[in-house]
Amino acid sequence: MAEIGKFYHLSYEVLQPLGFVGSWEISKEQHVDVIRRTFSNNGKHDLSVLYLGTATAKNPLDVKDAISELGYASDITVVDLASRPLRKLHKKDSTVKAIKLDACSVPFSDSSFDVVTTDFLFNMCSLEQCEKIVGEIGRVLTPDGVTTMTVFTKENHVNNAQSFLINNLSRKHFASEWDWIRVFDKAGMNLDIQVFKARRKPFLYHTDHFTQLIARRRI
Ligand SMILES: C[S@@+](CC[C@H](N)C(=O)[O-])C[C@H]1O[C@@H](n2cnc3c(N)ncnc32)[C@H](O)[C@@H]1O
Repeated sequence: MAEIGKFYHLSYEVLQPLGFVGSWEISKEQHVDVIRRTFSNNGKHDLSVLYLGTATAKNPLDVKDAISELGYASDITVVDLASRPLRKLHKKDSTVKAIKLDACSVPFSDSSFDVVTTDFLFNMCSLEQCEKIVGEIGRVLTPDGVTTMTVFTKENHVNNAQSFLINNLSRKHFASEWDWIRVFDKAGMNLDIQVFKARRKPFLYHTDHFTQLIARRRI
């Protein structure tokens, strides 16, 4: 799969601090709540975390901080097709493993991550690619692990001039909730879908309604 151009990541770095595009912070509360609930009673102190598709160095570091605020040490691995955010990430925090990879096929062992997270990666991938990524998530998650991610679905996609422009410029994909249920089911996971309203919508997003996908392996 081809790497997305440098211009995309450069723009993201500039636009994110200005609030024009989003970050993990949009769904931080939701993700943190899921992680807290999942691990509160199982005596784990270290969480092994896989972050898929980061447009900037900031997102995985925010994840690391949030997990540390919950009282866990974390071992974070970040995967992206693009070198730029990974290079920046490694410069900022060399303890985070930053690896250039296609998330459709990852070289990690089965059951090796407690948490797999990402935001809006799926809107950059076709449903066929998403099926592969979700298959990999189901394989690398520990039996008691959890994946929590945000995505725009067909249901919360709004057709307006802004979405027309953005979706065509950045070739976005929108699957339906039923597609997600089918894709996660095929990967052996139970899926919980929650729609939430962001307190502050990033300027370039066409809606303030986001969908959170939370899934666990079916045992
Ligand atoms: C929409 S951006 C992620 C935004 C970021 N998670 C956030 O919340 O701000 C998607 C990222 O996924 C990466 N990406 C796209 N397809 C990928 C794939 N198949 N494997 C790994 N990374 C991918 C892109 O290079 C980009 O950095």
